[in-house]
Amino acid sequence: MAKDHIDPIEALRQNTAAPFEQARAMPPEVYTTDAFMQAELDHVFSKDWYCVGRASALPNPGDYLTCELANQPIAVIRDRESDVRAMSNVCLHRMSTLLHGRGNTRSIVCPYHAWTYNLDGSLRGAPAMTLNEGFCKDQYKLPQIKCEEWLGWVFVTLNPDAPPVAEQLQQVEDMVAGYDMTNYTETFYEEHVWDTNWKVLAENFMESYHLPVCHAGTIGGLSKLEDMICPPGLPAFNYHTILKDETLRIAMAHDSNTRLKGEERRTTFLLAIYPSLLITLTPGYFWYLSLHPVSPGQVHIRFGGGMSDDYKDDPDAHENFEALKTLLDEVNVEDRGCTEKVYNGLCSALSAPGHLSHLERPNYDFAQYLNARISGETV
Ligand code: FES
Ligand SMILES: [Fe+2]
Repeated sequence: MAKDHIDPIEALRQNTAAPFEQARAMPPEVYTTDAFMQAELDHVFSKDWYCVGRASALPNPGDYLTCELANQPIAVIRDRESDVRAMSNVCLHRMSTLLHGRGNTRSIVCPYHAWTYNLDGSLRGAPAMTLNEGFCKDQYKLPQIKCEEWLGWVFVTLNPDAPPVAEQLQQVEDMVAGYDMTNYTETFYEEHVWDTNWKVLAENFMESYHLPVCHAGTIGGLSKLEDMICPPGLPAFNYHTILKDETLRIAMAHDSNTRLKGEERRTTFLLAIYPSLLITLTPGYFWYLSLHPVSPGQVHIRFGGGMSDDYKDDPDAHENFEALKTLLDEVNVEDRGCTEKVYNGLCSALSAPGHLSHLERPNYDFAQYLNARISGETV
């Protein structure tokens, strides 16, 4: 792998010491080395909140989804009291993983020897264990993991000291209050793995500078660089806004929406919530990516979206969203091409970071956040 001889943490420290007016892209070894990814697992993914999707994807008791966060398998389950809770997804017998994928279950049955757990993680029963004098089923409960809901999103963290999501994201909540993000219902959800570093994809989302070129085949013509506003970020997130053309009706505020005024009615927010939740929020629809590294060169992607409930009584809203999903899929093919090309380039011997445009302000802020975490600043 390229440039393994350079300390990637020191390289990022030097890179982020420059003011925004002189900033460059992050150094290649931050993307390509195992050492940097290990630091990310230790200081970012083990410490910050990770989004597993929308609460509306788990409507009924027993609905579950699974994820892996910094090598810890986690199950997120709606329990009998209708609360969403998260717990270790590792059996307390000989440590098999328990649930896989998504689904609904009455209890959690280990696929190895059928130790069976209740939806709160307590052990309900275990076959042929009565002759072990030390075994007491009441002493077994799957370790619980911090889990919070915020505006319809479900977050988990391995850090018992992480401040509440709502506290960290108060400014986001205030900024997009008129969108009423809780009332967006997910209608599609997919998982993918792309051959690029997770930060390349996150950074691709943070800047709309690439839209006219990378997306020339789809939305590029509708994207004007002068309609993009990129304010400085805040400690837990960055954002930028773009104005959508009125021809995409479902991106506009619905007539029944009196919360949004003037230009807000056609403003799209691109929210990058650290470390890896990326939300496109229009007054009519939303879509998101939640990212986790698989290896330096591979990213696991949770991809979902849907419509604002303002549109739920419109007979053609679903049809319009289907058309939009087709467009999003085409846009994603373009983003995949661009971000995998970047990873390819990053791995080359002659790669070197160039200067950033003023339209890449969020990328600069993201690098500052990353440097602060990796250099040991606590949440
Ligand atoms: S490892 Fe789960 S029952 Fe044996
Ligand atoms: Fe893109």
